[in-house]
Amino acid sequence: MRLRVAPATASLCGRYLPPGDKSISHRLAILGGLADGETQISGFLDAADTRATLAAMAALGVAISEANGVITLVGGRLRPPAGPLDLGNSGTGMRLLCGALAGHPDLRGAHIVLVGDESLSCRPMARIIGPLAEMGARIDSRSGLAPLVLEPASLKGIRYVMPVASAQVKSAVLLAGLYAEAETIVIEPGPSRDHSERLLPAFGVEIIDGAPGIGLRGCQTLHGGRFHVPGDLSSAAFILAAGLLASEQGIVLDNVGLNPTRDGVLRILSAMGADLELSPTEAIGAEPVGSIRVRKSDLVGIDIPGEWVPLAIDEFPIIMALAAVAKGTTRIRGASELRVKESDRLAVMCAQLKRLGVELEEMPDGAIIHGGRVSGGRVDSAGDHRIAMSLAVLALVAEDSVEIEQAEWIRTSYPGFVADLSALGASLQWLD
Ligand code: S3P
Repeated sequence: MRLRVAPATASLCGRYLPPGDKSISHRLAILGGLADGETQISGFLDAADTRATLAAMAALGVAISEANGVITLVGGRLRPPAGPLDLGNSGTGMRLLCGALAGHPDLRGAHIVLVGDESLSCRPMARIIGPLAEMGARIDSRSGLAPLVLEPASLKGIRYVMPVASAQVKSAVLLAGLYAEAETIVIEPGPSRDHSERLLPAFGVEIIDGAPGIGLRGCQTLHGGRFHVPGDLSSAAFILAAGLLASEQGIVLDNVGLNPTRDGVLRILSAMGADLELSPTEAIGAEPVGSIRVRKSDLVGIDIPGEWVPLAIDEFPIIMALAAVAKGTTRIRGASELRVKESDRLAVMCAQLKRLGVELEEMPDGAIIHGGRVSGGRVDSAGDHRIAMSLAVLALVAEDSVEIEQAEWIRTSYPGFVADLSALGASLQWLD
């Protein structure tokens, strides 16, 4: 479907609440299914990706019900699914579930197939198959790509030194470690989001802080509980960007997750001159949250420090869009991981920005973007939710309307995006 976005003619303004955090919702769906007893989740992200993980847990025998915005899972016993588990577009769902099921005692001897859509079937799975196989997991793939065929087996703990900072790999190994003999330790080359480590203790799992690694002992029992999901900074980032481009009066974003392993976007935008006022509020479980006031700002291009890249890994499409209208040049390096996300985000963003007249150079591990004006025109999300939303926000300051093809992919993580941006005063319209 095509989405038309008109340049903003008046200042955006208002108060805004982001949807539930995608990473935390996936983890709660999986851990709630593994845990004994009842797990209640409020604020769960209602989007295609997290629904796919929830459906996979249901197919594995977890009783799931919903009432008054609360999802209840009764977990603790799994059974082999009747057919393939379809994780749709979700790398997090597929990688974390593969780890959780690899040694699950209820599933030993079963034959479980994990499938995904066209995009997910092109994303690298060798990065989880390698360490899981080292633990004793039996996983067949199409040369490191989905579909994955899993035969849960008995596992032994490992000490795994990760070649790339990836929370998905770290979490897959830790989840497998729950059902492995002895200890499993993962050592990262740099920090990646730590939601799994923050959530596991709330399910009764003791985490070993074996600096420089982190780990757990196998064969611990998880216990269900009550959880609330904070708002997703990665979704809020689109509204923050809209505020920076088009809100003289300011927008206040409430209940935004401010986990320091996720806040690279705030560091980068602040360095670019963004007017952001952060007010921490009470933490939700182990996750820091707060409000952010954003106002229209004159952004300047910067060289993005390499150590901030993993902390902002999902925000590069919107950062690239902002760089296209910042004064001066923005340099992004050390970001080749962007090539294996829902799309090749470096290639797709560079191509789409060029269609809007932006001067830039694509690099193997980044891009050099020269800020200036952007024209109207027709662009394509390439089936990537974050690219569709980034281009929609950039359109607020384009010289003419921008039409985004395949914008329906927004449903992957943020089905309410068009309504939320419209409520703040933007003009967006579905064309077919
Ligand atoms: C995620 C980790 C990141 C991120 C993804 C969600 C997670 O991927 O890009 O959207 O929930 O663990 P990597 O761990 O592969 O970098």
